[in-house]
Amino acid sequence: MISHLIICTVCLLCTAGVGCTKGVQQTPGLLVQRGQSAQMDCSHTLPGAFYNMYWFQQLPGQSMELIVHTVPYKKPDFGNFSQDKYSASKTAIESGSFTVKNVKPDDNGVYLCGVSAHTASNPAYFGSGTKLTVLDSNRTITPPKVRVLQPNECQTKKDNKHKKTLVCVASHFYPDHVSVFWQINGVNVTRGVATDNAALWGGEHYSISSRLTVPLSDWLTPSKTFTCTVSFFNGNDTVPRSDWVRGVKVPAAPSRGKYLSITHTAKLFYATLIAKSSVFGVFVAFLVWRLQGSSGKTEGLRAEGQKD
Ligand SMILES: *[C@@H]1O[C@H](CO)[C@@H](O)[C@H](O)[C@H]1NC(C)=O
Ligand SMILES: *[C@@H]1O[C@H](CO)[C@@H](O)[C@H](O)[C@H]1NC(C)=O
Ligand SMILES: *[C@@H]1O[C@H](CO)[C@@H](O)[C@H](O)[C@H]1NC(C)=O
Repeated sequence: MISHLIICTVCLLCTAGVGCTKGVQQTPGLLVQRGQSAQMDCSHTLPGAFYNMYWFQQLPGQSMELIVHTVPYKKPDFGNFSQDKYSASKTAIESGSFTVKNVKPDDNGVYLCGVSAHTASNPAYFGSGTKLTVLDSNRTITPPKVRVLQPNECQTKKDNKHKKTLVCVASHFYPDHVSVFWQINGVNVTRGVATDNAALWGGEHYSISSRLTVPLSDWLTPSKTFTCTVSFFNGNDTVPRSDWVRGVKVPAAPSRGKYLSITHTAKLFYATLIAKSSVFGVFVAFLVWRLQGSSGKTEGLRAEGQKD
């Protein structure tokens, strides 16, 4: 009963976006070979007696489940969950750990740590989750290749005469521990950013895309750089991979230039065509002349034969 109340407080707080990560740190990610144990830690810097620690499992497409409740120096309460599969320890008010044993691909998911003080009416706080990936032994850990496509390469529905959308594509990575962020002139931007909810599995690797929609005036500023950075967790460190594009000049001059270059290309094309047909014409004329010449010769020979 008490734990239900606390879960609700946690859920409400998290949906309201209040206090979800503040002061609670968790192991950000774990890449573990199948059959091994995945141990994750949680600690907090909250003032007061936040000695309850809860570990939740969030599997893809499923609702969050409370696996264990721990308090310092007491036996963890696993409810219906098996201790053959999970273990937990808490030897201090500020920290604790949780372990998934003998990991299998089914264990892939996010594990959240929540802490609360001694009564259910006290607020509870969540860490940002430990993402666990059980590695496929046949695949190697590979950071993404990142490319930013310019608006003209990727006109989207959202684009109109006031806005432009840049698309960032990260591909060829394994596993899918990535996060994407954009910068304009080195400053983080979140407005106008839309990133895929999850990376896509393509059979060999993952890919993910993110879009940044900016006012046309920003895109038409050549001094502006638009950078997409994909942070990739390789099991030890988070490594960044980036690509960027520069804004373009106001198109008045470039569009005339483009028109000129199109007509120029057309002229060149016709000139080549005319030159080719002329050469062909000369060749045909030559053939006709040769044929006439040779038939003239055979007739001459025949005439000579008749004379004999
Ligand atoms: C890894 O590759 C081997 C040989 O190609 C195959 O037998 C095995 O099933 C693969 N393992 C996984 C987890 O895909
Ligand atoms: C920009 O955002 C990323 C990801 O959220 C963060 O790691 C980085 O520190 C931020 N950079 C600046 C300059 O705020
Ligand atoms: C992580 O660190 C371990 C030990 O230092 C090393 O063997 C392994 O290659 C590293 N992995 C990556 C992806 O850097």
